[in-house]
Amino acid sequence: MTNNAEWWKKGVFYQVYPRSYMDKNGDGVGDIAGITDRLNYIADLGIDGLWISPCFESPMKDFGYDVSDYRKIDSLFGSNQDFDVLLKKAHDFGIKVIVDMVMSHTSDQHMWFKESRLGNDNRKKDWYVWTDPKPDGSPPNNWQSIFGGPAWTYDTKRCQYYMHSFLKEQPDLNYHNPDVRNQMLSECEYWLEMGVDGFRLDAFNHCFHDEKLRDNPVRDMSSLSTGLQIDSVIPYSMQQHVHDKSQPEMIGLIQDVRALMDKYPDTMTLGEIGDDDPYARTAEYTSGNDKLNTAYNIHFIAGSSSTNLTPEKIKLPFREVKKYPNHGWPSWAFTNHDAVRVATRWGKGVQDRANFAALLNKLLLSLRGTPFLYQGDELGLPEAVIPFDQIQDPWGKFMWPEWQGRDGCRTPMPWNKDAVAAGFSTNTNDRQPPWLPIPTDHKKLAVNLQDEDPKSTLNQTRDFIKWRKTQPLLQTGEIEFDENSGEDIIAFDRFDGDARMTCIFNIKEKESEYKGSKYAPLSATYIAH
Ligand code: BGC
Repeated sequence: MTNNAEWWKKGVFYQVYPRSYMDKNGDGVGDIAGITDRLNYIADLGIDGLWISPCFESPMKDFGYDVSDYRKIDSLFGSNQDFDVLLKKAHDFGIKVIVDMVMSHTSDQHMWFKESRLGNDNRKKDWYVWTDPKPDGSPPNNWQSIFGGPAWTYDTKRCQYYMHSFLKEQPDLNYHNPDVRNQMLSECEYWLEMGVDGFRLDAFNHCFHDEKLRDNPVRDMSSLSTGLQIDSVIPYSMQQHVHDKSQPEMIGLIQDVRALMDKYPDTMTLGEIGDDDPYARTAEYTSGNDKLNTAYNIHFIAGSSSTNLTPEKIKLPFREVKKYPNHGWPSWAFTNHDAVRVATRWGKGVQDRANFAALLNKLLLSLRGTPFLYQGDELGLPEAVIPFDQIQDPWGKFMWPEWQGRDGCRTPMPWNKDAVAAGFSTNTNDRQPPWLPIPTDHKKLAVNLQDEDPKSTLNQTRDFIKWRKTQPLLQTGEIEFDENSGEDIIAFDRFDGDARMTCIFNIKEKESEYKGSKYAPLSATYIAH
């Protein structure tokens, strides 16, 4: 592992979705002890940092992104003690651990919300975004929830509406109240004290809303690019989100978060910024030395249908970053727990799946910015198709059959082709089946099979990560794309002063020519100058 203050710039992160990584107690759902059990594998992959999706106490309406107690590991996943063991063992392996802080909203089962609901007379009455109905009983404005329907739910106890950017069971906190900010910082501090190395800040720019509750303006649909993970038009994408998120007050909150982080050396923050103009926002939120360390947007992970990999897809975000000289260090992922798996999304019609998936991993790991591999991408897993009666994701239930939701990238890891539940669970009698089905084509890509094949996606990715550790230019060098590389080739230089490395990716399943040389199908070539 890289051992200095900017380890998070140089290293490779790996996102673990705890429900689906390894089920050590055999109840069909992954757990903390399961992650600890697989640290060997993660270390062998060459990972420097883990991002663990939320495992705090939660009613699991949004599978952990609805937290009811930020200081407690949900019993489904284990205990705080189990987490402590994971943290220490990860550190022994030289792996840093960042946890997912869901700051913008809680679960409606959080005691803060329960108290807030009690009425106008309680200490937490303004901890959430409450407002009276309009005289005709309708919600105060036109804001929409991302998961469908208005962003307002009427509460019969308070006889008021409360705001929720996601599910109605995920009420938005009111950061205009300084008590909320202080409390949430203290929740973060709890984990910093335990020794975590930082936070992924979920839906971070949703923390503030316009206090005047003004309507969002209509979006010009002719230039629609929803930025969402789905292609169908939903009401949320019909508005310009100028009042319901990304408010100017965010900067003060970001500075407070950074001031806290600075008390814990070598920690980092990764913001998730879903905005109409994510590059401008990220520049604002990552500029200087008093804000977030890095942030990502969903540019590379948006879209559910196959719109295959093209050079333009990769070049565009870097042109955007360049427009903002104050843009901080970027981070990128091709898949995460919200996205259709990239091997499927960008690989329509591809025959040589193993090499294509390996090429995608090498490409991600060669771009300027911190790479986040999502569990299973090292195996080249395709998106799983989930039968309707097994869909778990509430967004999927709302969107079906237009879209199956996010379960297709959340199915359990296939560790062993022939084991019960593909080795995901220690339960061998299959009485507690995995919470999502494991597709047959995933079993064929199981870790034990790929381990045996030196050319597997897994081994190519492992080898590449090892080699990357020896290549400072790939870690922190500047990037310059060849804008005229044609449709078959993605080419860019990574450079620092006079040191330069040209990276050439033939993204086609045929030999392609570039600047007079021929490149093998689906190959990555690195030329140091
Ligand atoms: C997370 C999602 C989650 C949402 C609400 C995000 O952007 O990545 O998985 O559903 O925030 O917390």
